[in-house]
Amino acid sequence: MPSFKRLLWTCLTLASLQFGLGRAKCGDNTYNPTVKQTQLQVGGFSKDPPKFKVEVENNCPMCPLIDLHLKCGSFSQQLVDPKLLKVLAPNNCVVNNGLPLQPLEKLYFNYSHPHKYLLYPSTWYFQCE
Ligand SMILES: *[C@@H]1O[C@H](CO)[C@@H](O)[C@H](O)[C@H]1NC(C)=O
Repeated sequence: MPSFKRLLWTCLTLASLQFGLGRAKCGDNTYNPTVKQTQLQVGGFSKDPPKFKVEVENNCPMCPLIDLHLKCGSFSQQLVDPKLLKVLAPNNCVVNNGLPLQPLEKLYFNYSHPHKYLLYPSTWYFQCE
């Protein structure tokens, strides 16, 4: 019965995909969280410094992301609400107080400063259970 075989095969394939998703899949580099920055406003014409929009994204479609730390250089706490980004030490900032970003959730904040700070994810965990 070829059609039964095909059905069985389809089920097995789907089942293995289901098992394959989760921790192992999101541990893959393709799901690393990302930080994107865009400049919203150019300084210079007024005395206002340029404004940058920061977008932090959990790229894992299955698992909440927790305890995301960023390399943040000498980022100043005064530029941002610590609930969004808390400066713990030089070059160590934590996003959302370490609390979960849901699968594919994005968190946004703006800051104004004469130059852009480089912000890179350094450590994080996926909460797959
Ligand atoms: C960031 O700035 C833009 C433009 O000024 C504004 O529309 C947006 O609401 C701001 N975002 C946040 C999270 O404050």
